[in-house]
Formats: sequence, C-alpha cells, structure tokens
Amino acid sequence: MKACVAAVLWTTVLFAGGCKSNKDAKKEPDKGSGSAAQTAQGSAQGSAQPGGSGAAPAGAVELAITCGAVGKEQKICKEGVAAWEQKTGNKVKVVSVPASSSEQLALAQQLLAAGASDVDVFNIDVVWPGILGTFFLDLKEYSKGAEKEHFEAIVANNTIDGKLVAMPWFTDAGVLYYRKDLLEKHKEKVPTTWEELAATAKKIQDAERKAGHKEMWGYVFQGNAYEGLTCNALEWVASHGGGTVIDAQGKVTIDNPDAAAALETAASWIGTISPPGVLSYQEGESHGIFLAGDAVFMRNWPYAYGLAQEDKSPVKDKVGISVLPKGAGAGARSAAALGGWNLAVSKFSKHPKEAAELALYLTSPEEQKRRAIAANLQPTIVSLYQDKDVVAANPLFTSLVDTFKAAVPRPATATKGKYNRVSTEFWNAAHAVLSKQAKAKDSLADLKGKLEGMSRGGTW
Ligand code: GLC
Repeated sequence: MKACVAAVLWTTVLFAGGCKSNKDAKKEPDKGSGSAAQTAQGSAQGSAQPGGSGAAPAGAVELAITCGAVGKEQKICKEGVAAWEQKTGNKVKVVSVPASSSEQLALAQQLLAAGASDVDVFNIDVVWPGILGTFFLDLKEYSKGAEKEHFEAIVANNTIDGKLVAMPWFTDAGVLYYRKDLLEKHKEKVPTTWEELAATAKKIQDAERKAGHKEMWGYVFQGNAYEGLTCNALEWVASHGGGTVIDAQGKVTIDNPDAAAALETAASWIGTISPPGVLSYQEGESHGIFLAGDAVFMRNWPYAYGLAQEDKSPVKDKVGISVLPKGAGAGARSAAALGGWNLAVSKFSKHPKEAAELALYLTSPEEQKRRAIAANLQPTIVSLYQDKDVVAANPLFTSLVDTFKAAVPRPATATKGKYNRVSTEFWNAAHAVLSKQAKAKDSLADLKGKLEGMSRGGTW
C-alpha cells in the first residue's frame, strides 16, 4: 500500500478514496492512511464545473492534474483547465502541490512508485525526465507532431529512449531584477559583475536605511536548501568560469578554484547585502521582500515581473530586468540557469487519451499565448516570440531572448535517474558555505568525493 504512504505525506493531494493504485484498486486502504486521506479531503481543489451545471455528459471522464504553486501559476492553470472542461465536457481536479520543486518531486516519486492513478497529468520540472520518464506515456502517439513547434532543445530534453515523456509548457531562465528608481536616485548603473552588484547594493541599502527605510536590503535570492539553490549556485559557479558541477560527459568538475571563489563571494553577501533569512528563502519569499519595496536587487525567474506590474504593487513601473552579473576570472560570463516546466501523462492514468488531450491543449499555442500575457510564463513555442501581444506583455524578456537561448542546463541529462541525488549534494554543499559552516574549498572537495562515488567512475 505504498500509495497510501504517499497519501499521508502529500496531504494536500489526495482526497478520500484516492488511496488506491491500479495494482490494488480492489483492496481497502489500511486504517492509518485512510484517515490521512480523509484529513486531506477538504484540501484537494477542484476547478470550475463545465458549463456551470455540474452534470457531466455521457462518456465524460474525471481527471486530476498538478500545476505549479508559485506566483499566479495555480490561478492561470485553473483558467486553462476550466476552458478545456467547457470544450470537452470532462472534469478536472487541479491538485494543490507545495511550492518547492524538490518537495513536488518527492511526492510525485512516491505516487508513481506506488502505481497510484490519483494524478493523470503531472507538471514536471525540466530536470525530471531522466528521473521519472519511465512512468510516463509517449506523447508522440497523441501529439500529431505538435512538439515540432517547440524549442528543439526542450523536446530533446524531454525525450528519453526515443519516447516524448512530456510536452514543454513554459521555459525559465534566472534574471536580475533591479529597482530603476533607486538606481537613478543614487546615480548608479545596472551592475554587470557580482562585485559591482555587491557595492551598489550596499551603497543604496545603507543610504536608504539612513533615510529611514530600516527594512531595506541590497540583494535577495533563493538560498534555501532545495532545487532553487542549485539553480542560484550553478549561476554563481558558471559565471565565474567554474563549470556546471558535472560536464556533459559525466565527469565531476565542481572541485575547482573558480567554483570555490564563486561560493565564497555569495557567502560574503549574507548579513551584509542579503538578509540572514535568505538562507531559507525560496522564490515566494524573495519576491515577497522585493515586491514590498524592501530590496534593491533580486534574482528570480520571469514570472515575478507580472506580479511587480500589478496595480496593487508598490513597485509598479519601478522595476527593470537584466542579465545576471558576471564573476571574476578568465572564464567569467553572465550565466542564467535553465528552468521550465512540462506536462507528462502518468502510465497509471485510467484515461490516458483524455489526459494526453488535456496536456496537449494546455501546452498549445493559444494557451501558451494566454499564459505568457497573463502571467509572464515564457512560451516554449518558437513562433510566439514574434507574436506582438506576447512581446507587448513581456517587453523586457523578449529583449533578453539571447539569455534564454544561452541558459545553462543543470547536469540532469548526464546524471539521468541520479540527478536529484546530485542536486541535493550540491545544494547542501552550497548551503554549508553560505551559512559559514564550511569553507568553499573543503565543501567542494567533499562534494567531489560524494559525486564520484555516486557515479561509479563516470558511468551514471
Ligand atoms: C523554477 C524553474 C525550475 C526550477 C525551480 C527551482 O520553477 O522553472 O526549473 O527547478 O524554479 O526552484
């Protein structure tokens, strides 16, 4: 009854009776997990009923989908799902998930390993195809070639052993947000190196505090020990010319002086330009501070721009976006981590055809256009970057298109099913340096040993 173990942990997902797997659908759930499922009953969020009537037409099915939980993701997903319900007469539950990609992965792994059919369509991070691919259907059998309109690199990323395990939904790259008004007021320029960023952040932070804005900080980012820190730390390391932890051939490269310098630089920000609490910040906490007007700079993904521009936002029209700064050293360059999310259909779904149709609808050009305009979720369909409405809603991002094209992938393809273990070791090593529990040099030497042990001589 592993599915019921998942129910205990993923309390927001499962609803009463949702503790059955295809394998053991006829058995009763055991007592403990049954009650956990009941506790969770109220939290599963269904979307609007089709046509408002609640009565599903003959042949209609009921599906469940996970969507993201950062910024406007839930809302925007529910709107898309409701449109598909209207169109098809089927019903879809939009399941609540935690905001953290790492927690979402743990829960998806437990559900899928148990063969649970509770979720038909999974929203999967760009680094998961190698980890979860075997649990998903080949969408090429349903797509009629729709994937050809998407960025080739993402389609390749989502293709495992010739199977298209997920349709690209939106793409992400780390960017630098800055307060245009504060830079102007303090006669400063947008920083292009981390050194400039630290100096500008400190100068403006100190001056603003002196003028009475006591909560002001210079720089916020994602420093919690989770996948988001892997993205931030990869950007620091790559921007110092320190590589990508593991190279495309599977060789562990992280133990090098540029990588150590990058982590020591980041550690020097804690308590000086970044609040000590940044060590537990994910995306939401970072944008919370920045959007309240309490930070000069922020590292985040494109979604936060839409939130900054809402009418109620204290920083409306005051925010600019640029590429992330470069480090020092010969190989220094601006580096943005490649992120993004995709829709996959579980092989345990009882309604694979409809589930695939839902995934294809939500990833279609019309939906991606709507999501790019309403929530700044960057399309994976190449032609939408020429669409004038998309460009008008995302002026700053379309000007950063080269950044998106050159975004640095995490070492997920090379490490296959072990990527999450690799990433966990990397974010823990980075977190130890940020929290001053270890020197970067020692932390990276230790990390190298662990990763080499995991890879058994480079064969991941
Ligand atoms: C964003 C990215 C995703 C990444 C996550 C880390 O959601 O799209 O790829 O893993 O942030 O927090």
